[in-house]
Amino acid sequence: MRLLKSVMSWFEDRTGLVSSMGSIMRHPVPPGSAWFYVFGSATLLAFLTQVATGIALAFMYVPSSGEAYQSLQFITNDSTLGRVVRGIHNWGASAMIVLVVIHMVQVYLFAAYKYPREMNWLTGVVLLACTVIMGFTGQVVRWDQTAVWSVIVAAEQAGRVPFIGKWLADFVIGGETIGGATLSRMFAYHVFIIPGLIFIFIGFHLYLVLRNGISEPPEIGKPVDPKTYRDSYEDMLKKKGVPFWPDAAWRDVVFGFSVMVAILLLAVIVGPPDLGKPPDPSNLDALPVPDWYFVFYFALFALMPPELESYLIVGGPLIIGILLLALPFISNRGERSPLRRPWAFAVVVLAVASISSLWAIGISSPWSPNFDAKPLTAEIIGASTGPIYEGGELFNEKGCLYCHAISGHGGQRGPDLTNIGNRLSTNELTWRIMNGGLNMPAFGGTLTNDELSSLVAFLKSRKVD
Ligand code: HEC
Repeated sequence: MRLLKSVMSWFEDRTGLVSSMGSIMRHPVPPGSAWFYVFGSATLLAFLTQVATGIALAFMYVPSSGEAYQSLQFITNDSTLGRVVRGIHNWGASAMIVLVVIHMVQVYLFAAYKYPREMNWLTGVVLLACTVIMGFTGQVVRWDQTAVWSVIVAAEQAGRVPFIGKWLADFVIGGETIGGATLSRMFAYHVFIIPGLIFIFIGFHLYLVLRNGISEPPEIGKPVDPKTYRDSYEDMLKKKGVPFWPDAAWRDVVFGFSVMVAILLLAVIVGPPDLGKPPDPSNLDALPVPDWYFVFYFALFALMPPELESYLIVGGPLIIGILLLALPFISNRGERSPLRRPWAFAVVVLAVASISSLWAIGISSPWSPNFDAKPLTAEIIGASTGPIYEGGELFNEKGCLYCHAISGHGGQRGPDLTNIGNRLSTNELTWRIMNGGLNMPAFGGTLTNDELSSLVAFLKSRKVD
């Protein structure tokens, strides 16, 4: 006991950590913060869960295009607790996305982004973007058909950016085509770059929370005035502040604990998502769809009016990003109560309504690409070597098949191509594949010249005499 004490006091003398932790835990916060304030800490907890389970998965996952799929299969079916760890990582990802969005909506409705907390909001927007990228890259490193399809969509989106589109598409997929380099790249984003950024920005975000204080619950008729805000906030803390621990933080603990229990239960009972088909078109046993939080976006992508597509695909996320970043500059003072900011309610209701209807369309609609399409067989292709055969295989591999049927194999999203050789010339085919069209992605950025000419040769051979 005495030894422990002297070790502690040595440690405290050299680092000062114990007392500074203590003062952080006991620092005064506004009273009455209630249950609305638990979502930020729960998001943090979900992130730490992802780090822990992610490290565990990284012990066995092999980030190479030949082995990734098998290594995940091994983790899921054969390793000790592997299925549960994958389950936690998967449900934890969903939890983190849900929580970060609720946290953001709460901050928005309570106008906690106003003076002096503009930087809290801006770092939060960066963290939101990082979370979405983690969801996306996480889905890709699963390296099944869904993964490949997601990368096609992302590369397509990047390819539409004016001027630097081609370069950006190459950058996203790591070269001209989707393959081993794509996976290595996505893996590096998923385990090094983005988590590193998240750590840095969480540190910054939390530092700002301490520096600027937790926002007090908004009150009608108490607008924010940057000239007087800090003084009156300090004053309020002195008069009415309560210690962070335990008066405010017990709710964080209770809520965080419930979130963890929910994640664990889902991981054990429901488990991780089935791995979709491996990116080998000869295996047909599963039906992959994008992870739920991307379904609405895929639906939007497919529903977009063609004249707007090129603009929306690049412009949509850009405008949303700019709006989020501009928000604290557009309004950093004035009323905070949501009752005095009805338009803030309207924005949230509108966003929830449009995302959920897109989502409903996304999971039910017949127009969505058919990921279950049976690949073209050698008989249908009608060759077993040469450019026509290679073109036929590319038709399977590049996802053309998800949208186009040939001789009864494939999706219905785009026109049937069984007789396309009668209808379009070589140039017309090349142009169509390069540039896409009415709800067809442009493949110009993702095909090599050889691949393009094989595909065209194959399509040109689809005709009835
Ligand atoms: C997301 C679904 C989708 C994918 C993937 C897709 N297409 Fe299409 N494709 C379409 C749609 C929709 C159209 C109709 C476009 C239009 O009329 O402007 C189309 C049109 C075409 C046409 C012209 C058909 C005609 O009758 O004029 C060709 C040829 C074609 N696609 C080839 C391909 C090839 C080759 C691939 C793979 C590299 C591919 N498509 C991938 C949806 C898709």
